[in-house]
Amino acid sequence: MSFTIVKEATPRLNRSELAVPGSSPKFFEKAAKGDADVIFLDLEDAVAPDDKPQARKNIIQALNDIDWRGNGKTMSVRINGLDTHYMYRDVVDVVEQAGHNLDLIMIPKIGTPGDVYALDMLVTQIEQAKGIKHRIGFELIIETALGMANINEIAKASPRLESLHFGVADYSASTRARTTNIGGANANYGVLTEANADGARDYHWGDQWHYALSRMVVAARANGLRPIDGPFGDFSDGDGFRAQAHRSAALGCEGKWAIHPSQVALANEVMSPSDADVSKARRILEAMEQAQKEGKGAVTMDGKLIDIASIRQAEGIVAKADQISR
Ligand code: GLV
Ligand code: MG
Repeated sequence: MSFTIVKEATPRLNRSELAVPGSSPKFFEKAAKGDADVIFLDLEDAVAPDDKPQARKNIIQALNDIDWRGNGKTMSVRINGLDTHYMYRDVVDVVEQAGHNLDLIMIPKIGTPGDVYALDMLVTQIEQAKGIKHRIGFELIIETALGMANINEIAKASPRLESLHFGVADYSASTRARTTNIGGANANYGVLTEANADGARDYHWGDQWHYALSRMVVAARANGLRPIDGPFGDFSDGDGFRAQAHRSAALGCEGKWAIHPSQVALANEVMSPSDADVSKARRILEAMEQAQKEGKGAVTMDGKLIDIASIRQAEGIVAKADQISR
């Protein structure tokens, strides 16, 4: 390990993050009673320009009137981008009038560390002026080529940062990627194998998002932030959602967005360690404790090598299970 200590962001369960348009207050109560770990009330792309002022009012009222946190929710608001004239009023109105009941601000289309600085300055002033005692955290959506190019600097831009999110829809638009469904697999991203002995060739699909997601995971983890995978647009395709969520979890993501309430349970399921994983992790910790007593650095368990790095992995799984059972 380096002598540089990576400070972890405020720990929060973030397996599922439900998007709820601020212009649709009829969905608020149901969302508050649902199973999402984090909810973001949206002022950005799910809200038409003419509806934004009313959506702001709805969100302020809902943050103040509904007992979201009593229902165990972490509450976030997605503001408009820094390149719009809606943004300053989103921040000023929401934080001034409902900042006491807000945990996080989600900043879309983040492009440079200076974007984070600008928001940090504004939020710091409002928190002080309004006597808001807790620190409102930031979640950043990496969804432009610029944001991805600057991701390492962005990820260390403020102590308010808690998570990086992969916004695959805007990322596709920004990079001019050729895609079909939002966040889905792409039949055109694959390789044709060489011919086998019978002359047959196979076509293997690849994962178009592998590089972007991996890059985001590394930038997030190197700075103690949670990497969260973004939307999967086809909410009638549960198997497709599960597959994409599993591959994000395999890379290190600890949550995924739900753009429809039906995706919340899927995200929670995939992003929670299985009972088998937890009991194996506990056995690894026991075996390694025993090994250390005997002065050994590595042992075999179930015919496989486990060493000190296995302790860190197992501890991560057990810590997550404890967080869920709380
Ligand atoms: C999310 O905002 C996305 O663009 O995918
Ligand atoms: Mg977006």
